[in-house]
Amino acid sequence: MVCSFTKIPPFYSYYNMKLLPVQQIFSEKSGILESVKKESEVMVMKNVNIRKAAIIGCGFVGSASAFALMQSGLFSEMVLIDADRQKAEGEALDISHGLPFAKPMQIYAGDYDDIADANVVIVTAGAGQKPGETRLDLVKKNVAIFGKIIPEIAKLDFGGILLVVANPVDVLTYTAAKLSGLPENRVFGSGTVLDTARLKYILGEHLGVDSRSVHAFILGEHGDSEIAAWSSANVSGIPLHDFCEMRGHHDHVQAMHDIAESVKNSAYDIIEKKKATYYGIAMSVRRICEAIILDQKSVLPVSHIQHGAFGIEGVALSMPAIVGKDGIEATVPIGLNDAEKAALQKSADALRQVIRDTLSES
Ligand SMILES: NC(=O)c1ccc[n+]([C@@H]2O[C@H](COP(=O)([O-])OP(=O)(O)OC[C@H]3O[C@@H](n4cnc5c(N)ncnc54)[C@H](O)[C@@H]3O)[C@@H](O)[C@H]2O)c1
Repeated sequence: MVCSFTKIPPFYSYYNMKLLPVQQIFSEKSGILESVKKESEVMVMKNVNIRKAAIIGCGFVGSASAFALMQSGLFSEMVLIDADRQKAEGEALDISHGLPFAKPMQIYAGDYDDIADANVVIVTAGAGQKPGETRLDLVKKNVAIFGKIIPEIAKLDFGGILLVVANPVDVLTYTAAKLSGLPENRVFGSGTVLDTARLKYILGEHLGVDSRSVHAFILGEHGDSEIAAWSSANVSGIPLHDFCEMRGHHDHVQAMHDIAESVKNSAYDIIEKKKATYYGIAMSVRRICEAIILDQKSVLPVSHIQHGAFGIEGVALSMPAIVGKDGIEATVPIGLNDAEKAALQKSADALRQVIRDTLSES
């Protein structure tokens, strides 16, 4: 009997598996061979190098994310893919030249065969927003690009996590989940991780407090219908309104409105001034990868297909989720007041309509 255990390169690490001692593999009498065979099947299915990342799309967002990941020390190998091969090669070289100041890793331009064993594949390929263009305006162009990329991944025996970053991220997360056929816990989008970081940053500035002590979420669409979940917002356990009073801010309704608008318009403002946004999203990608690689089980507002939370079904949008080595472990049932619930459902309806329109035309 051939045991596929022997085919696995010894330096690789795998999900959900232990490398069993050799004498156990051949101890047929005890029945262990059978159990090893079962584990081996899992091994072959999930042939993943946990220290390997791939980035598809090496424009502003892809290259900034590659740079952030190179500095993170999370990965020992990173492959860059772009429709423009020269661009991927140039970025790989440029980023590699920073390695003597970071941690050793291999960074190279490649193609789809190189990503079969990647632990995380980050898809940033797609057109960026033009000044004045909404994320949803991008939908047709980028769904078409995903129609080329995702089937290439689906052809591989891919056992890792697919992290969607290209916009409109919620629609593309849904598209990627459907086209790839991968389990839903392993296909999710950066969603409102960036918007939530913007909210924390602005609140931190407003209150004169470390933004890491601010606990608040932007949920729903990464885009115009997103909602700030104010009712659960707090600063280190102190309800937000109480903390605002303590810091001398009393006009809560106006402040909440202004801050939520500022978060929502951040991308438009930055694109107006410098044509693209990429550093904030690059740090968001790094944070999500950290939760996966270090199995942190962090609660992050990633975009994923919903199954019933607040009556929302069959649409990808951001809800807090526990993120660890297997991707999404569970959606976290955050408390929302009636107005927030209604706004979230409206956000889901808007996205569902876009998905219907897009898929019916394609
Ligand atoms: N989720 C977020 O929070 C967030 C934040 C910022 C930008 N974005 C999105 O990220 C995407 C990329 O933005 P950008 O500024 O890097 O754009 P960009 O134009 O600079 O880069 C896009 C890259 O994708 C490549 N590409 C296009 N089609 C491809 C294909 N089929 N295969 C491989 N590569 C392909 C292009 O050659 C280009 O290098 C956009 O959709 C943008 O809206 C998302």
